[in-house]
Amino acid sequence: MVTIREEKLSDAVTREALLDEAYGSDRFTKTSARLREGRLPAAGLSLVAVHHGRLAGTVRLWHVTAGPGRAALLLGPLAVHPQHRNRGIGATLTRRAIARARLAGHHAILLVGDAAYYGRFGFTAASTGELWMPVVFSASGSFRSSFDQARSPEREGSSPRPVGSSRSPTSTG
Ligand SMILES: CC(C)(COP(=O)(O)OP(=O)(O)OC[C@H]1O[C@@H](n2cnc3c(N)ncnc32)[C@H](O)[C@@H]1OP(=O)(O)O)[C@@H](O)C(=O)NCCC(=O)NCCS
Repeated sequence: MVTIREEKLSDAVTREALLDEAYGSDRFTKTSARLREGRLPAAGLSLVAVHHGRLAGTVRLWHVTAGPGRAALLLGPLAVHPQHRNRGIGATLTRRAIARARLAGHHAILLVGDAAYYGRFGFTAASTGELWMPVVFSASGSFRSSFDQARSPEREGSSPRPVGSSRSPTSTG
């Protein structure tokens, strides 16, 4: 049986191993990882899935800004251990994280990821019209992501909901 709970300090080592396995050793160079640098995960919004005492999945939400003075959360990395994929664990982690963010009063969640996966949770690049990401340097040089010219989430109204999903040129998660 899989249970979802808040991450504990003691989960950090296995969480990092799971992320290495899911995203590879170069994961810290990817767009979302660069965006998380120097930021803190939002309180109560780091979740893990546990199967028979072992970590099977992880997701975290981070404090970011979506334009000057506009608080938002960045979702990721989301990862599920290969042995436990396609059983809805990723979806459950994502939905729980969104629900908790709503309850905590957050108004917007952004992510960089596969629209084909995240669309089912309501994420859409159509909601990011005037948003842009800071320039992030990749091995091939600098680029701006498809958040370019995205819309500010707060203009969508105060109803908390996921607002952005876009796949950047080099990065996921
Ligand atoms: C992406 C990930 C978190 C999904 O976790 P999961 O627990 O297997 O996901 P769920 O069981 O909730 O959903 C499985 C469904 O999502 C689909 N799916 C998985 N990854 C996908 C992706 N990158 N794009 C589109 N669909 C995807 C599966 O094909 C499956 O489809 P189905 O329901 O039609 O059979 C997991 O595969 C993972 O950790 N992958 C490695 C990291 C990664 O590639 N992340 C890319 C996402 S941005």
